[in-house]
Amino acid sequence: MKRIALLLMLVTPVIIAAPSSEVAWTPALLKSVKNANPAKGKELAAAKTCTSCHGETGISNAPDTPSLGGQLATSLYKQLRDYAKGSRQHDLMSSVASGLSEQETADIAAYYASLALPANKSSSESSDKTEKLVELGDDKRILPPCEVCHGSNGQGEKMDIPALKGQRADYLVKTMLEFKNGQRHNDIYSRMRRIAEQLSEQEIKDLANYYQTLD
Ligand code: HEC
Ligand code: HEC
Repeated sequence: MKRIALLLMLVTPVIIAAPSSEVAWTPALLKSVKNANPAKGKELAAAKTCTSCHGETGISNAPDTPSLGGQLATSLYKQLRDYAKGSRQHDLMSSVASGLSEQETADIAAYYASLALPANKSSSESSDKTEKLVELGDDKRILPPCEVCHGSNGQGEKMDIPALKGQRADYLVKTMLEFKNGQRHNDIYSRMRRIAEQLSEQEIKDLANYYQTLD
C-alpha cells in the first residue's frame, strides 16, 4: 500500500502548470491580424509614444529595448497580448499593452511588420562554434539548430517565431537569459526555454552578437 501511495505521489502532478500564453491561433484571429490596418497602427504608435522607445522607424536606440521594424505581425501581436494578460512579465510593457484593444494591437502589429528589419551596421566575425549552433545545433545536447525555427536568414517563421536578424544584442541576451532562468515563459510548448536552458551564458552572448550583425 505504502509503495502504491508513494508511486501515486510521484506520478500525480502537484501543480497543474498555467498555459504559457492565452493567444490561440484560430483562423478568425489570423484573419484579423492579417487584415489589420497599418495606417491606423502608425497613428497609434505615435499617439501611444511607442516611437519614443522603439524608434521612429521601429529601430530602437534604447538599451535593452527591442527593435520592432520588420518583425512578423503575428509575433508582435502575440507578445503584446502576452504582456497585457500577464503571460509575459514586464511592468512597463504590461501597462502599455493592456491599454490597447485587440484591434489596436493588430493595427500596431501590422504597422511595425510593414517596416524594414534593422540593417546590419557593424560587421563582426562569428566563431565556427556559434555558426555551428545556428546551422547544425548540437546532437550531444539534443539542441536543434536555431535555423530550423528562426529561418535560414533569421527572418522568423509563422506564426509565433520571431525574426532575430538585426535585433539589438543587449536585448537578445537579456531575453534569452530570462528564458534560461524561467523568468520568461510565454513560449508555447516551452520551445525556446528548452533551448535556452542548455546554452551557456557565453554561447548566449555569442549568438546574440551573431544575430545582431547578420547580413
Ligand atoms: C518607455 C519605453 C517603452 C515604450 C513607451 C514602449 N515600449 Fe515596448 N518595450 C520596451 C522595452 C524595454 C521592452 C523589452 C521588455 C522585456 O524585456 O520584456 C519592450 C518590448 C516590446 C515588445 C516585445 C518585442 C519582442 O521582440 O518580443 C513589443 C511588441 C513592444 N514592446 C511594443 C510596443 C508598442 C506597440 C508600444 C506602444 C503602444 C510600446 N512597445 C511602448 C520599452 C517601451
Ligand atoms: C523549436 C523551435 C526553436 C528553436 C530551434 C529555436 N527557437 Fe528561439 N524561439 C522559438 C519560439 C517559438 C520563440 C517565441 C516564443 C514566444 O512566443 O514568446 C522564440 C524566441 C526566441 C527569442 C526571443 C526573440 C524576441 O524578439 O523576444 C530569441 C532571442 C531566440 N528565440 C533565440 C534563439 C536562438 C539563438 C536559437 C538557437 C540556439 C533558437 N532561438 C532556437 C522557437 C525556437
